[in-house]
Amino acid sequence: MAPPRAQPPRLRARDRRVFAYYREFLNHPDDARKVAWRTRFDQELRFENLLEAVDEADTALSILDVGCGLGDLYGWLRATGRGGEYLGVDIVPEMIDAARARHPEGRFEVCDVLVKPPERTFDLVVCSGGLTVRTPEHERFVLAMIDRMLALSHGAVAINFQSTRAFAVNPLAERDPDLFHADPLALYAACRERCRWTVLREDMLPTDLTIYLYPGYARSHRAYARRAPQPDTFGLAWLLLERRLPQAALQVLDADDGPPEASRVNLRGVALRQLGERAAAEEAFREALRLDPTYEPARLNLG
Ligand SMILES: C[S@@+](CC[C@H](N)C(=O)[O-])C[C@H]1O[C@@H](n2cnc3c(N)ncnc32)[C@H](O)[C@@H]1O
Repeated sequence: MAPPRAQPPRLRARDRRVFAYYREFLNHPDDARKVAWRTRFDQELRFENLLEAVDEADTALSILDVGCGLGDLYGWLRATGRGGEYLGVDIVPEMIDAARARHPEGRFEVCDVLVKPPERTFDLVVCSGGLTVRTPEHERFVLAMIDRMLALSHGAVAINFQSTRAFAVNPLAERDPDLFHADPLALYAACRERCRWTVLREDMLPTDLTIYLYPGYARSHRAYARRAPQPDTFGLAWLLLERRLPQAALQVLDADDGPPEASRVNLRGVALRQLGERAAAEEAFREALRLDPTYEPARLNLG
């Protein structure tokens, strides 16, 4: 049975620019050219570069692909033995129709994440080439998209751009009115304001830059939790609270099914205090002292 046709969204000036740009490419016989990449090789190289944002051992990640085009990332993930959940979104309905036809088992939706974002978060949100076509007030739009992608990820966000460095290898690029070229350091600074762990990569192609953002707690925390022979609830929760990540600390504390201990109950109080829940925090400190009347940190916290 043919997959249902994707419904076109309401068009704004920005969308009209994107639609006009990509519709010119869509009839090209070469698959990579259909989504305006030069070759399949640089398209796939970009996929790998974006996937490097996460641990290579994580083969079952949930991935949101913003500007998924024809779903080639989905094909690449499966062809290279990487499973996990995948959702591809694009604002051009023809892209989604073609992606569904190519990969009937994949999930592809016409969706503008600024208008109606998915109602869940993902381990990894990627965007390969999705912010490249220059639209009205493009710089502002790019930052709004970065904010939205950050909100949609609990792990990592990886986005590539054409870089102003491209002008050194192709001076004509500077006069191309269609394409947005991001200044690497200005973009890094804007991302760094939004997310303390931001990485700028410029080592893939002389024309490109890639930004990784990690909105959740640091990857080192997750790696530690996974690799420590006996993950230590107290140590993990303490580290998270040091980084002012009380929700993540509460998750770690909740997952512990050992008997209640003053040290952990006290940390629950610290997390609640960081969340502004003073009464609940106080009750947790008292509970810690009931469990161990000599537990000094809880006494200090209560004070
Ligand atoms: C250069 S193509 C790359 C497609 C795909 N990521 C790949 O690498 O094969 C960029 C894609 O982003 C989509 N796009 C552009 N602006 C978008 C937006 N605001 N939201 C979602 N998709 C968008 C375009 O329709 C196009 O399919």
